[in-house]
Amino acid sequence: MADTSPGDDQLTIRTLTDADLPVFSEVLATAFLIDHSAEFLAAERSAFEPARSHAVFDGETMIGTGQLLSRRIVVPGAEPVPVGAVTSIGVAPGHRRRGVLSRIMRGQLEFLHEAGEPLAILWASEGGIYGRFGYGLGTQHTQITVPRGTAFRRDVAVDPDPVRELPREQAVPIMRDLYDKLWPSRTGYLDRTTDGTWEYHLFDDAGRRGGQTAMRFAVHPQAYAVYRAKEDWQARGPRARVTVHELTAATPAAYAAMVRYLLDMDLVGEVVLRAGTDEPLVHMLADPRAALRTLFDALWVRVVDVDRALTARRYPVPVDLVLDVDDAVCPWNAGRWRLVAGPDGRAEVTRTDAPADLALDVAALGTVFFGGTRLATLAAAGRVREHSPGALATASLAFLHDDEPRCLEAF
Ligand SMILES: CC(C)(COP(=O)(O)OP(=O)(O)OC[C@H]1O[C@@H](n2cnc3c(N)ncnc32)[C@H](O)[C@@H]1OP(=O)(O)O)[C@@H](O)C(=O)NCCC(=O)NCCS
Repeated sequence: MADTSPGDDQLTIRTLTDADLPVFSEVLATAFLIDHSAEFLAAERSAFEPARSHAVFDGETMIGTGQLLSRRIVVPGAEPVPVGAVTSIGVAPGHRRRGVLSRIMRGQLEFLHEAGEPLAILWASEGGIYGRFGYGLGTQHTQITVPRGTAFRRDVAVDPDPVRELPREQAVPIMRDLYDKLWPSRTGYLDRTTDGTWEYHLFDDAGRRGGQTAMRFAVHPQAYAVYRAKEDWQARGPRARVTVHELTAATPAAYAAMVRYLLDMDLVGEVVLRAGTDEPLVHMLADPRAALRTLFDALWVRVVDVDRALTARRYPVPVDLVLDVDDAVCPWNAGRWRLVAGPDGRAEVTRTDAPADLALDVAALGTVFFGGTRLATLAAAGRVREHSPGALATASLAFLHDDEPRCLEAF
């Protein structure tokens, strides 16, 4: 892609090549208020896909960046689908609020539309940026803080196999094996099939530690945890904080074993875990109130193509509805679509002239796509209009999914 948009002759946008990486990395570090370093460049290199990266130039100078990682994500009830995982979004401080991000966003969505990838996903640095580009708040996560030693209920089964601390190079292959087995059946999980995806996920330069230790690796035959610790020596005794970067377990008892291990570590005051919004841990505690919970947005989801996206997932109840979709950024989505899903959960989505049962914007569709938020909630927020009585209740149920969608991997 290479074009000059009218109205600002100086600014051009183009797809990148390998040679652009060092400057791309510098522009990005500056945008994020980080001093550029060899480590920062190495992290960017581990994920860089030049043919899926775009930059805006003022004359010869790169001033805006964005990239679409090639990932797959597990959608409700079906095979994982390819997505554009949006990252490396940054605009040089002196060039902001002149439409640079807007050009990158449009370029990315056109790219994905042409590539046939039905969804774009991202983690937002600030919650107010992406709604205008049609992204909806598709999954959320909880930060759970639990005091050291908090007791489980007596009926919680804890797998008796031991948890061992392993050096990174021994832990990673074990973690990869376990993750490969588990991810395809967990809604919202991303594939991590390449070396680069693991390197990027476990990048651990001093700039990312915020005064904490390097990543540590606790491994059980059916679970693993990656965490950091921050020492804290107080008059009443040590109160270090353990922050878990990732906890993955194959079974409930292995999950219990790993949580128990983290909660029983000496010198610790509390353990902080990034978790789902309906996390089993809370229900394992003798006193659930011991788990302090704060809710955050996780994945922002953009439906790139209504028909491709809505046929990629399954529906728990039959549905036959006409949706009138508003999409100012991707005009190919705008208008009426008939969604028909049968008893097997598979859907057909076709263009129609029939009157609409529901009207909503594409960001609302992204919000409900993974099945973690009710369409009825969005209607209560004034984001969905019901034209046929009963259509909202049917659609709200049809878009739900029993396996809570979680994407706890920031990228
Ligand atoms: C966020 C950022 C990329 C925006 O770039 P930009 O080129 O200034 O954005 P644009 O000029 O295209 O803005 C488009 C619209 O989004 C709005 N917008 C931009 N940044 C915003 C923000 N941080 N919060 C809320 N709205 C924002 C603009 O006001 C504009 O609104 P309008 O269409 O009503 O006029 C840039 O400020 C930046 O690099 N920030 C620091 C790094 C960062 O947070 N990156 C995002 C990582 S997820």
